[in-house]
Amino acid sequence: MTVTLHRHGPIAVLTIDNPPVNALKTVVRARLLALFQELAADEAVTAIVLRGEGKLFVGGADIAEFDRPPEAPTLPDLIAAIESSAKPWIAAIHGQALGGGLELALACHYRVALAGATLGLPEVNLGLIPGAGGTQRLPRLIGLEAALPVIAERAMLGSASAAAVGLLDQIVEGPLTESAVAFATALPPRRSPSPQPDPGPAFWESAAARITKASKGESAPLAALQAVRHGVANGLAEGLRHERQTFLALRATEEAAALRHLFFAERAAARPAVLRGIDPCPVATVGVVGGGTMGSGIAAAFRNAGFAVILSERDAPALERGLATVKSIFDAAARRGGTTEAMAAERMAGVTGAVGLNGLAACDLVVEAVFEDLAIKRAVFADLGRLCRADAILATNTSYTDPRQIFDGISGPDRCIGLHFFSPAQVMKLLEIIPLPDTEPTVLASAFDLARRLGKVPVQSGICEGFIGNRILKRSRAEAEAMLLAGVPHADIDAAMRGFGYAMGPFEMQDMAGLDISFMNREAARARGEALPETPGDLLVRAGRKGQKSGGGWYDYAPGDRTPRPSADAVQIIAPLVRSGGGLPPAQIVDRLIGAMAAEGRVILAEGIAAAASDIDLVQVHGYGFPRIKGGPMFQTDRKAKP
Ligand code: NAI
Repeated sequence: MTVTLHRHGPIAVLTIDNPPVNALKTVVRARLLALFQELAADEAVTAIVLRGEGKLFVGGADIAEFDRPPEAPTLPDLIAAIESSAKPWIAAIHGQALGGGLELALACHYRVALAGATLGLPEVNLGLIPGAGGTQRLPRLIGLEAALPVIAERAMLGSASAAAVGLLDQIVEGPLTESAVAFATALPPRRSPSPQPDPGPAFWESAAARITKASKGESAPLAALQAVRHGVANGLAEGLRHERQTFLALRATEEAAALRHLFFAERAAARPAVLRGIDPCPVATVGVVGGGTMGSGIAAAFRNAGFAVILSERDAPALERGLATVKSIFDAAARRGGTTEAMAAERMAGVTGAVGLNGLAACDLVVEAVFEDLAIKRAVFADLGRLCRADAILATNTSYTDPRQIFDGISGPDRCIGLHFFSPAQVMKLLEIIPLPDTEPTVLASAFDLARRLGKVPVQSGICEGFIGNRILKRSRAEAEAMLLAGVPHADIDAAMRGFGYAMGPFEMQDMAGLDISFMNREAARARGEALPETPGDLLVRAGRKGQKSGGGWYDYAPGDRTPRPSADAVQIIAPLVRSGGGLPPAQIVDRLIGAMAAEGRVILAEGIAAAASDIDLVQVHGYGFPRIKGGPMFQTDRKAKP
């Protein structure tokens, strides 16, 4: 049964029951419409309460239906019927009312909710705008100022704010059905939504500027604003028609397909089927070994998520530096307005420092982020293996080293795992999870649970050099270098990738990270007798150009300014190694680089290092700046391969 009917005297209570999120799929809409007609004709019924079974009211439309033409009755059909009903409908909300769920609630004549509910229109996250009246009815109910952030800027309203702006008629106490029935028995007068006066071009232009700035090349947020404006200028009926047309047009775009792909990819990645029913270990106190670039960010990420953190360094001065870095992360967040100074202080108070490893004995989890050096990492874990509780999870953040070597010989290998964070760790969403052959399922389940608590996107990786992400990075870098040697100017390669949607191109990225580390690695390999050919990057470092930190690398930089400027010097330095007269159109440059990523991705899949192509896309989008609206390299090449 997708919708059930119960009678409480003259009040009919309809309960949508379509687990897990009561999505408004075709059978649900059809059944609701049939019940609507039945109740309209039933003289014993004076009012209808609409609610959701389980954890929430309604999570939205059924996204899986978006790849097909809409089937009747559409959501707008159903909503038009309810809105014009002579009998009052009351939406009784708990948990969440999102997207089509909120639009359904907006069609009702009253809305009540339990405290702690969330109401929102997250359609833009899927490259869409609300398609069943959200852009029209919400502004008419709560005003433009309150509605725009919800419609076009991803704002979610909690029960209290929703009541404050008039989206809810009342916040009720549980049990919800009884309270909603009581409300329906003594209804206050209906508030009729009011047409919005046009606030004038300046209002729309400033909203457009704000929205454009925040939307990384996406088209939906601006289209949502435009839909609101069109309705304000032309009235409800025309506004609804225009909104639906825009919704259907956006639904068919590559951008929306890419965002849907990532939505499903993220959902699948967060809950691997093999871990169903396996409980994670409780984790409250986290030790982080090493307070450098990664360790300080990892400590901040855990602390931001509410864990108690102990940061360990090898000596007092290094500990002081590490703690200062963590503090600067909290302070910066307060300065930018994400948190307050009081919160920054409270967070810092929950980070304790320790010299050496003895202070970590009570931790539930220890994440190691010391130098990328096998002997040092092994020594750290030999000590931790003895010091920590037998059920404490021990994790390495290594980028390249085989974790089997790192943990070799440790007591309790079943509690060991790789947790690979990305820099800056308090910001980047990707967490590569690398189980070892001996890793206990509960420890693996804990890693996924930790990712959820940290707000990260987990992707499981098998063991290989660089795991999924850095292995693909190596391949795409090699492709960029091959193009460079063939005479494609590095500035053209960067510009093409920026044009595709990356915040920076591969050579700009190298300038930011510094060219010297990979240079030193190559020099070390040469010293071991490997015959590595001289690269353009080697020439730049030998000429003192290590990237932004030395004032120049592939580009020149003015002091205190990270804007890359074309460098005649760099071009001249690398000239002996690059052919002249090459050059490729931007689309071909992009195809070569994305193609290289996907080619390596296919090998990674074939080897079983990644479980799904969509996992590879998640790695690129959440760890390496791949533009979200393009869906990832596997998605791109997959779409191209289809006729
Ligand atoms: P880093 O050089 O900035 O920091 C390493 C820190 O470890 C230093 O502060 C050092 O004093 C400390 N340390 C060394 N031995 C120690 C010991 N026995 N006990 C306590 N602390 C000790 O290095 P970074 O960049 O933070 O890298 C750390 C690890 O994370 C490496 O394995 C690296 O491959 C990995 N990683 C690095 C990423 C990056 O973007 N930098 C990204 C992802 C992983």
